[in-house]
Amino acid sequence: MATAIDVDLQSVRRQFPSLALTIDGEPVVYLDNPAGTQVPQRVIDRTADYWRTMNANQGSVFPTSRRSDALIAQVREAAATFLNAASADEIVFGPNMTTLTFAFSRAIGRELRPGDEIVVTRLDHDGNVSPWLALQELGVSVRFVDIKVPECTLDMSDLHRQLTPRTRLVAVTHASNVVGSIPDLAAVARAAHAAGAWVWVDAVHYGPHGPIDVRAIDCDFLVCSSYKFFGPHQGILYGRRELLQRLRPYKVRPASDEVPTRWETGTQNHECLAGLLGAFEYLAAIGGDDRVRRPALEAAMDRIRRHERALVARLIDGLQQIPGIAIYGITAPAELDHRVPTVSLTWLPHRPEALAGWLASHQVFATHGDHYATELITRLKLVDDGGTLRIGIAHYNTASEIDLVLELLAGFRG
Ligand SMILES: Cc1ncc(COP(=O)(O)O)c(C=O)c1O
Repeated sequence: MATAIDVDLQSVRRQFPSLALTIDGEPVVYLDNPAGTQVPQRVIDRTADYWRTMNANQGSVFPTSRRSDALIAQVREAAATFLNAASADEIVFGPNMTTLTFAFSRAIGRELRPGDEIVVTRLDHDGNVSPWLALQELGVSVRFVDIKVPECTLDMSDLHRQLTPRTRLVAVTHASNVVGSIPDLAAVARAAHAAGAWVWVDAVHYGPHGPIDVRAIDCDFLVCSSYKFFGPHQGILYGRRELLQRLRPYKVRPASDEVPTRWETGTQNHECLAGLLGAFEYLAAIGGDDRVRRPALEAAMDRIRRHERALVARLIDGLQQIPGIAIYGITAPAELDHRVPTVSLTWLPHRPEALAGWLASHQVFATHGDHYATELITRLKLVDDGGTLRIGIAHYNTASEIDLVLELLAGFRG
């Protein structure tokens, strides 16, 4: 079956050296993309070039330090474009989403009073739950928004029930890393703001699948991680400028008190920031531009979405032909725009780990377990069964890889 990106899928794949990996003579098939994507040569080159030509700490007067500072400023601009932030001042770098979220939840906690409330969801990865639960030690209450089963979408009526005049923040995912559902974030933000609460978005799982737009969502904070969208292990945060200014970070005294660097504790991972620029450039190039500009990023994501949609439709259709397999999440062809191509399934009484092991024995990589989405897996009553098998598609996957995973699952005999 031809899909939108098929024309140049081979040229996309050639840019990723690890896609050519073979183990025991068999080609590797990466369907563990929600846990981390592969990187294109551009990211490797940018990272190596940093070490070769500008490796230095910030703020000195000599050339390598100046180059390094200029590069970081360039990456910050590109990250603002990637998230559609109004200004590079609203971009904070950090090690990963979880560390950034804990740092900010602690700082936000300084503004909260006992009896204040935070709303989290049962759709979210625990990286967007535990940092808020940690504030219970301040006397803050945490309320949970439920999901609708079986489609595993956010229950918007329950969101309205959980919001109260004491709600100070709503933490919500841009896409579930287990079942793929995409909540209506603009509607969540409208409801949260009407209640006087800030909106914190976890875009880690959505990042490789669609254009992130903090202004269209109208969120107050958004975090993502570039190892999920073809870059290095690097966290990125958007924060509304006035909030980055108003909230007080935990920081050392000599470090800058300017926005946004007051939030960047310690020395940043400069080589990963260089690699991050490579990831933005890679995406812009898919959209037909050699510079990181918004129209190119949007065009790239549009192409990526069309290709991934065809692949996920093929996967869901094939899985539905295998008796006994249960798929969690949206499956109706007309609803596929409301999900990313991450598919979770069970095939009881087989354990998800056994299914993943069978695929791995054929060099097809997929993950199993709770995927750190503790609330969701508990809500779906899958804890004792070992969670789900997750098949996570990225734009470099091919229709034949989907057919292979289907063929292997159909041939599984426990
Ligand atoms: C949806 C989601 N949120 C948050 C995280 C945590 O991200 P990080 O590893 O950058 O802390 C993950 C990681 O898998 C994730 O999938």
